[in-house]
Amino acid sequence: MVSHPDLLVGNDTGDDAAVYRLDDKTALVVTVDFFTPITDDPYEFGLVAAANSLSDVYAMGGKPLLALNVVGFPAELAVEMLGDVLKGGYDKATEAGCLIVGGHTVDDEEPKYGLTVVGLVEPGKEVTNANAKPGDVLVLTKPIGTGIITTGCKQGITPDAVLKHAVDIMAELNKGAAEAMMKVGVNACTDITGFGFMGHLKTMVRSSGVGARIRVADVPVLPGVWDLLEKGTVPGGTFRNMSGVADTVDWDDSLTEEQRLLMCDAQTSGGLLISVPRAKLDQLLSELDACGVQTKAVVGEITAENAGRITVSA
Ligand code: CO
Ligand code: CO
Ligand code: CO
Repeated sequence: MVSHPDLLVGNDTGDDAAVYRLDDKTALVVTVDFFTPITDDPYEFGLVAAANSLSDVYAMGGKPLLALNVVGFPAELAVEMLGDVLKGGYDKATEAGCLIVGGHTVDDEEPKYGLTVVGLVEPGKEVTNANAKPGDVLVLTKPIGTGIITTGCKQGITPDAVLKHAVDIMAELNKGAAEAMMKVGVNACTDITGFGFMGHLKTMVRSSGVGARIRVADVPVLPGVWDLLEKGTVPGGTFRNMSGVADTVDWDDSLTEEQRLLMCDAQTSGGLLISVPRAKLDQLLSELDACGVQTKAVVGEITAENAGRITVSA
C-alpha cells in the first residue's frame, strides 16, 4: 500500500483511479486500462476500449485531459487494421475533450488496446467507492449483459442487431453520467467492468463498511441477453466473478442460475453505479436526464446492517 499526504486515493480501496493533489484547486486522476478485441471490427474496438479507459476517470468524478495509447499488435497483421483501432480511440477521446498525445506499441500475439488517462478533479470533490452511506440509493446508468453478448458473438450466435446495440452502449462515454453526479454531489461511485455488477458492488460495500440490497427485476438488461443465456452462453470471467462474490452475496432462493450469472456478467465499458443520498435521488435522476443519459435505473439501496454483504432479491 502506497501512502503520501497528497495521495487522496491510492490503491487500498480498489478504486477506479488514483487521485493526487497538486494544490488546493487541482488534483490529478490517473488510470490505465487495455484489453483484447471484443468484436472483429477494429474501429469499434478502438471506440469501446477508449470509452472504457476514460470511464475510470469519470467514475472518480474527474474530467479526462490527456491520454496515451497502450497497444499490443501482431507484426503479421495488416497495419491498416491498427490504424482503424487508433482512429476509433482518437474519435472517442476527442468526443471526451481528451487529447491523445502519444503512446507505445509492442509486438504481441493477440491485439490489445487501451489508454493511460490523466484527468483533473477538485481535491475533496473526488468520488471514491469507499464512502457509500446507509440510506443511499443505488443508480445504474447502463444496462448489463455485454459479456454474454460478445461471447455469443465469438460463438457466432449473437444476432447482428443485438451486437450492434451492445457496441453502441459500450462505446457510450460515461461523461454525461459523471457530470450529472458531480452537479448533484453523491457519496460513492464505481464503473461496472470486468468484475461485473456484483463484483464491483462487493468492492464498494467492503470499502465503505456497509451492506446493500439489490432487486434483480430493477437491473436493466440489454436486449438479446436472455436468449443467449438460455443457450448456455456465459463468458469464463462471469463464472469466476460468481465464485468471487460467493462469500459476500445472499441470493434469494427463487433466483435461477441464469439470473445469478447475469448479475455477475463481466462487463466491458459498463455504466456508473452511483450511491446517492435518498434526498438527492430525484435531483440526480433529472440531471442524468438533462445530461442525455438514457438509462438511470434505481437498483437497490445501501444498508447499515449486514455490513460487507449484499442481499439479492428477485
Ligand atoms: Co473502473
Ligand atoms: Co479500469
Ligand atoms: Co515507448
